Amino acid sequence: MGGTFTAAAAAAALVLVMAGLFGAATANIGDKCSTSADCGAGQWCFDCEPELAGSHCVRSAATNPFQLVNNSLPFNKYAYLTTHNSFAIVGEPSHTGIPRITFDNQEDTVTDQLNNGVRALMLDTYDFKGDVWLCHSSGGKCNDFTAFEPALDTFKEIEAFLSANPSEIVTLILEDYVNAPNGLTNVFNASGLQKYWFPVSKMPQNGQDWPLVSDMVTSNQRLLVFTSARSKQVTEGIAYQWNFMVENNCETLLLSHETLCCSSSLSQVSLL
Ligand SMILES: *[C@@H]1O[C@H](CO)[C@@H](O)[C@H](O)[C@H]1NC(C)=O
Ligand SMILES: *[C@@H]1O[C@H](CO)[C@@H](O)[C@H](O)[C@H]1NC(C)=O
Repeated sequence: MGGTFTAAAAAAALVLVMAGLFGAATANIGDKCSTSADCGAGQWCFDCEPELAGSHCVRSAATNPFQLVNNSLPFNKYAYLTTHNSFAIVGEPSHTGIPRITFDNQEDTVTDQLNNGVRALMLDTYDFKGDVWLCHSSGGKCNDFTAFEPALDTFKEIEAFLSANPSEIVTLILEDYVNAPNGLTNVFNASGLQKYWFPVSKMPQNGQDWPLVSDMVTSNQRLLVFTSARSKQVTEGIAYQWNFMVENNCETLLLSHETLCCSSSLSQVSLL
């Protein structure tokens, strides 16, 4: 009896070891896959056409840098995920009644991007229909067929995230074609985002460190906004992007296994 029991136990143990090995054999980031079940925890199976043909395991959420280290360093010491054309979302219904004819860049809604760890959004702002809209257009003009949605809708999603996540900081980088006086300021006011505004006067001018994240959180100044329109730093108190940032073109990193999403113009923006 004893011997049989031992053999049965050994067989059971062997099955467990094999199951364990099998479990450990799941694909890692960058490996080919057919469904998300093939990939490890926190990953999903995604076809990054055309740059990375075929389905591969990719990360589904970014690591939160304030939790990885702590939040007591200057803001410029952290790296975080940024999405390009964050508003150009696949499947966003037409808000103009005219079918859209322009490019999409993202699969997630802005709310999902933020919940998945994105902390900077690149948005293209235009004068349109007497308001400010997010459009994927050209020549500085938004059309019915290049319009995604009123900026107010997206700003409200960002406000909801900042309100629900009082330790998080969000950066907006605007490719800004708004000429209406105070056009952007009105939308920031109307969305409720103004209360989180990090003032230009607190931004370092000569490459010094930024304030500590913990101080930005305590003062509740958790929204950084940069515009491509130089004049707005004086007229509306919106920081001119190139007074505070440098950009490196990182297209060659696109095939790196750490890449989260597909973009033909993946780039890295750093605070000076
Ligand atoms: C936060 O992390 C940094 C880098 O590891 C360390 O130097 C610093 O002492 C930490 N601060 C706190 C308050 O834990
Ligand atoms: C935005 O709101 C603030 C306070 O609520 C107000 O002082 C300011 O005039 C408003 N700005 C605009 C452009 O509406």
